[in-house]
Amino acid sequence: MFEFSQLRLPIIQAPMAGGLNTPLLASGVSNAGGVGSFGFAYTGAEKIAQDLFETKVLTSGPVNANFFVFQPVELPNEQVVNDAVAALSDFSIDGGYNLKAPTLPLFPDITHQLEAVWAQHPAMLTFHFGIPAQEIIEAAHARGISVGITATNLEEGLAIVASGADFIVAQGIEAGGHRGTFSPYGNDSELPLEQLLRDLVSATPLPIVASGGVMTGQDINRVLSLGAVAAQMGTGFLCCDEAGTSASYRKMLLTEGSRPTQFTRGFSGRRAQGISNRFMAAMEHKPTLPFPIQNSLTGPIRQAAAKSDDVEFQSLWAGRSYAKTRSMPVADLMQTLGEEMKDSK
Ligand SMILES: Cc1cc2nc3c(=O)[nH]c(=O)nc-3n(C[C@H](O)[C@H](O)[C@H](O)COP(=O)(O)O)c2cc1C
Repeated sequence: MFEFSQLRLPIIQAPMAGGLNTPLLASGVSNAGGVGSFGFAYTGAEKIAQDLFETKVLTSGPVNANFFVFQPVELPNEQVVNDAVAALSDFSIDGGYNLKAPTLPLFPDITHQLEAVWAQHPAMLTFHFGIPAQEIIEAAHARGISVGITATNLEEGLAIVASGADFIVAQGIEAGGHRGTFSPYGNDSELPLEQLLRDLVSATPLPIVASGGVMTGQDINRVLSLGAVAAQMGTGFLCCDEAGTSASYRKMLLTEGSRPTQFTRGFSGRRAQGISNRFMAAMEHKPTLPFPIQNSLTGPIRQAAAKSDDVEFQSLWAGRSYAKTRSMPVADLMQTLGEEMKDSK
């Protein structure tokens, strides 16, 4: 079974759904002594098997396969769908886009996705948005696979302890991408990482991985000093040569440091943090469909925007410290982080 003490560098490259994680990125992190991850939330079983297999060829180090815990959701009535479609109809994007009314299934079947995972046997399996079915945790344990689950507050952390999972990923409000709150629409405690770490470290017995705004070796030392066993970094890896990040998204991360980040439900139906753009502003008071139906609905907009390098209509997920993102090969970033950790001890 995976132990955090085995790592040469206490760094998990965050799972990032949407083609940003690649075998070259994940294996680069694992070969440098950390854990490389894949965000497989929306990925089909064949592609999951292919990515994990290709990664295994490139590294014998630990790899993490990550999934969302999708809550049961029903297709809303026609009027609600029509209103949501109307809210998305007037954007001016080169090449145009065609919206499609959502169809079933609304999200992938995790049992099918996990067949690929069991066959490829990564070191760890992590979940965002809640606790997976007990059978899944047991099936992972039966195969010697370690299970981690995101918590954004102590209550979620305690539920994770009770679930029998092996570690908690503490996600502070600084983090890029989707908030991992268990409830999509309930109150969000919005805890900064440091406070969340203090709460979880003092009240739970599980190893805690710290995520949200960790960009440098100094940042890693700080979360370790608060009791975390490792840091999970997402934004910090987006501009590595090996990441699947588009050229226009990279440019925003590296040059637009003064643009604020903000949360929006506009892209997916759940709150997620990214660099502010026109789409986010336009959607602020517009109706959206429940997660992940809104995500399928906005797919053609995001794809048209990516194709025409239009950053105003792409989901530019990024944490609050994105201005510190560095562009370099993943091996160099891992080495730099290790050196910064030593220098700032
Ligand atoms: C582009 C992007 C996509 C993300 N996708 C996922 C995901 O699929 N699963 C997940 O558990 N977390 C996801 N996250 C959140 C990360 O796990 C982590 O909480 C976050 O990256 C930490 O903050 P940072 O971006 O400031 O490093 C994503 C983050 C980003 C930036």
